[in-house]
Amino acid sequence: MRILVIGSGGREHALCWKIAQSPLVDKIFCTPGNGGIAQVAECVDIKSEDISGLLEFTKREKIDLTVIGPEATLSLGIVDEFLKYNLKIFGPNKAASMMEASKVFSKELMAKYNIPTANFKVFDNPDEAKKYIEENGAPCVVKADGLAAGKGVVVVKTIDEAKKAVSFIMEDRAFGDAGNKIIIEECLEGQEASILVITDSKEVVALASAQDHKRIFDNDLGPNTGGMGAYSPAAVVTPPLFKEILERIVYRTIDGLAKEGIDYRGVLYAGVMITKDGPKTLEFNVRFGDPETQAILPRLKSDLVEVMLAASEGKLSKVKNLSWDSRACVCVVLASKGYPGDYEKGKEIFGLDEAGRMKDVAVFHAGTQIKLINDVGQKQESEYLTSGGRVLGVCSLGENIKDAINYTYQAVDKISFEGMHYRKDIGSKA
Ligand code: AMP
Ligand code: GLY
Repeated sequence: MRILVIGSGGREHALCWKIAQSPLVDKIFCTPGNGGIAQVAECVDIKSEDISGLLEFTKREKIDLTVIGPEATLSLGIVDEFLKYNLKIFGPNKAASMMEASKVFSKELMAKYNIPTANFKVFDNPDEAKKYIEENGAPCVVKADGLAAGKGVVVVKTIDEAKKAVSFIMEDRAFGDAGNKIIIEECLEGQEASILVITDSKEVVALASAQDHKRIFDNDLGPNTGGMGAYSPAAVVTPPLFKEILERIVYRTIDGLAKEGIDYRGVLYAGVMITKDGPKTLEFNVRFGDPETQAILPRLKSDLVEVMLAASEGKLSKVKNLSWDSRACVCVVLASKGYPGDYEKGKEIFGLDEAGRMKDVAVFHAGTQIKLINDVGQKQESEYLTSGGRVLGVCSLGENIKDAINYTYQAVDKISFEGMHYRKDIGSKA
């Protein structure tokens, strides 16, 4: 099979790496890809939002299955477009992608189908939102309705901060039309977990649980980022709790979507807060998580291509169960100086070969590019440059979470670039 993976981050590197292990696969393309992805796939410079360019490429290269990383590509309706030409594609269609593209849509679906989530109210007028905040007090959470690259959620402690968040989203229009509506919701407390499943809208196959680390600094301090690390399995998700999350959140959601006439195929990712009153949904994503995927896929023994193909064909019942490595996996993200604000680029990365040679270690690239080599044929000490905020995801398996943490940080110690920073406490909650 010829596979196309769309995207350019650590998640897409992990996907390409896993897909490359499938005996079904002859060739992988990745658009646009990155420096590390080029080790396992042919990178082609087509933007993830260029749906007609991607369509044309898929037809020309006779791609057998397309796999999408980013939500923006999905919410543009790439799946609907590909299906018009009977091209196999793994991911939800435009209507189903609303589960991530509109928080109002997903919260209203949760309310309608009795799916546990924080109490909430929707506003399309900033003055009414501020009045509601004054009446109801803080803490609370203010969320832009639409896609905001992970930045549209503000957890606030005071009424003043909450009103500022409303102004930022609705009056300053920080996220454009994504802030036409907002949600104000109850602030939940507990540990978070990411539950990802693959579904064809009838059958559901769960991936191993994971926990993300969203804040930039140790002990969950500082601003939110795209994710500074993850580990799998999430210790907080015990087997009975996993079952409860599937029954009360995941199955109800997929059934609810079906009742709304939405055929959901692809990954459904539930971000869940484990509160003292049980699991409650924070959000849904319609794609693989980043960096959860980097911590989950090294544990997957089954052929991911087989599962994604079956889901895209509506034949997931063929796939009974996935087989997992019982070991734990930890992924530590190495970031550029300045991230999550403006960050530096173009720094040489050292030690990748040495880290990559360690047993059970995988180094997934996120923001890297291949250095243009002047001395033709001469082996360079550094072949890669930084090109993004999150640069690498260093992952390792270990007999238990403690071993996985130790091995991962040993691998991290071998890698360096100017301004590199990372969290030292990934996995410690487990
Ligand atoms: P979301 O994009 O909705 O998952 O929000 C991003 C992050 O904001 C989540 O991972 C949580 O850390 C936090 N968050 C979102 N909703 C709530 C809530 N109701 N209570 C507490 N924290 C929340
Ligand atoms: N790790 C959070 C996300 O993928 O949205």
